[in-house]
Amino acid sequence: MKLEIDGEVVEIEEGATLLDAARSVGIEIPTLCYHPALEPFGACRLCSVEIEWRGGRGRKKIVTACNYPAEEGLVVKTKSPEVVEVRKMLLELLLARCPGEGRIQSLAREYGVREGEGKPRFRLELAAKKDEAEEHCILCGLCTRVCEELVGVSAINVLGRGVEREVGTPYKEPSDDCVGCGSCALVCPTEAIKLAKNIFPTTAEDEREIENRFLDLGAGSKRDEALGVYSDLVAAKSSVVQGQDGGMVSALLVAGLENGFFDSAVVVQRGEGYKAEAVVVEDAAGVRSASGTKYLRVPMVSKIAAALKEGALEEEEKGGKSKSKRRLAVVGTPCEVRAVRKLEREFPGAEITVLGLFCLESFDYEGLKEETRRRFGVDLDRAEKTQITKGKFIVTAADGEVFSCDVRELEGVVREGCPYCDDFVSRLADISVGSVGSPDGFSTVVVRSRVGKRLLDATEFVRGGEFGVDKSEIVKLAKLKKRNADRKFAEILEGLEV
Ligand code: SF4
Ligand code: SF4
Ligand code: FES
Repeated sequence: MKLEIDGEVVEIEEGATLLDAARSVGIEIPTLCYHPALEPFGACRLCSVEIEWRGGRGRKKIVTACNYPAEEGLVVKTKSPEVVEVRKMLLELLLARCPGEGRIQSLAREYGVREGEGKPRFRLELAAKKDEAEEHCILCGLCTRVCEELVGVSAINVLGRGVEREVGTPYKEPSDDCVGCGSCALVCPTEAIKLAKNIFPTTAEDEREIENRFLDLGAGSKRDEALGVYSDLVAAKSSVVQGQDGGMVSALLVAGLENGFFDSAVVVQRGEGYKAEAVVVEDAAGVRSASGTKYLRVPMVSKIAAALKEGALEEEEKGGKSKSKRRLAVVGTPCEVRAVRKLEREFPGAEITVLGLFCLESFDYEGLKEETRRRFGVDLDRAEKTQITKGKFIVTAADGEVFSCDVRELEGVVREGCPYCDDFVSRLADISVGSVGSPDGFSTVVVRSRVGKRLLDATEFVRGGEFGVDKSEIVKLAKLKKRNADRKFAEILEGLEV
């Protein structure tokens, strides 16, 4: 079809928007909430243009170019005085909301918004109430859409109305859904999402900052591309705790509690059937009750945040004397470890020892239950054991019969968000544990920080001896996970380049 934009005849395929048509001939229209990989949202209205129908007796209309379909014979003006007025007004409003936001400031300058008056006309109470430099969110909704449409998690939404509108989690609680993938931070045109509370977008810079801390404070730690920063890599088996893959997670926790490195630990415990839940344990018996590997993602972060808050409250009530839930150990998958590292910043008085697990992906409980029933005729809730090893998902039924399938065949029941996680080895934990790389019956332990080293030194364990860690096996999976996640991120980045 043919239409006219700023006096130029443009030919474009049916289904294209006015923005596509303009960009196809190099006509720039400013956008804030548009991203080619996401559904149009029409939130910022900065892409407003004027349209007129040929033979439409001068009937004109202002529409948003990012979601208005191109039509045969349409006459479009992208810089008419009316359009410029609309954009100026929108920029004034945005400036009132986020006076310190660089991108808005530069657009406002481009449109001469501050010229003459010296100050914007509007001033929102919200911005006035806060420190002016604090509000950076321009409510473009890119973060919420990338989280919902691409990552598939929907951890955040635009909440509230009018001047109270903001991006946040349901009930403004720490999110158990956010996988810390950082996709929202990639698309956010401002700094706002990095400052958001209750979600945990982790960027490459965040990762580097924490790893540098390990390097600075660590005992001879070195940087490894696939394994992250570490000082020690050992195949280990607990000499006191029995357990799947050497029982090292339980052994480390017991040692930490008994040596007073922490007073309690948040761990995942099997509940009814195969279901699992996060619980706070305070002694060796509690730790033992939670041993064993679970392949489900359970609401953990809210539990950790609640424990930290409770600890802070107790401490305050007892005049700074009680530290119980402020000295906490946490066992989590890489995404949970990222969340803990962000929560840590909100509780500066807390001492958190982070034990990370190796994790390729986790599963949805209902989905996994249905798959094991369909494939093997096994009720997951009554199964004796599940294990993922060497690319196989293995279920031992209640009668001892063993079934297995390739883990890749379970792709359909992998939790949303996992494909966007690029961390296999819990790079940000003080100490990481997993079965990959060690002989049967042993765990691979990766010591990263001084805290992790102290913990391993206090733990009784047997080394794998001549059967050391086969690092190449870990590197293979770490690279595979990173490669897959990079492919997903490329989709988002490609969209940003337009
Ligand atoms: S946090 Fe960033 S991406 Fe999300 S709505 Fe605000 S400005 Fe847009
Ligand atoms: S970090 Fe990922 S999962 Fe969390 S809110 Fe952002 S996009 Fe969603
Ligand atoms: S870019 Fe079109 S409405 Fe925001």
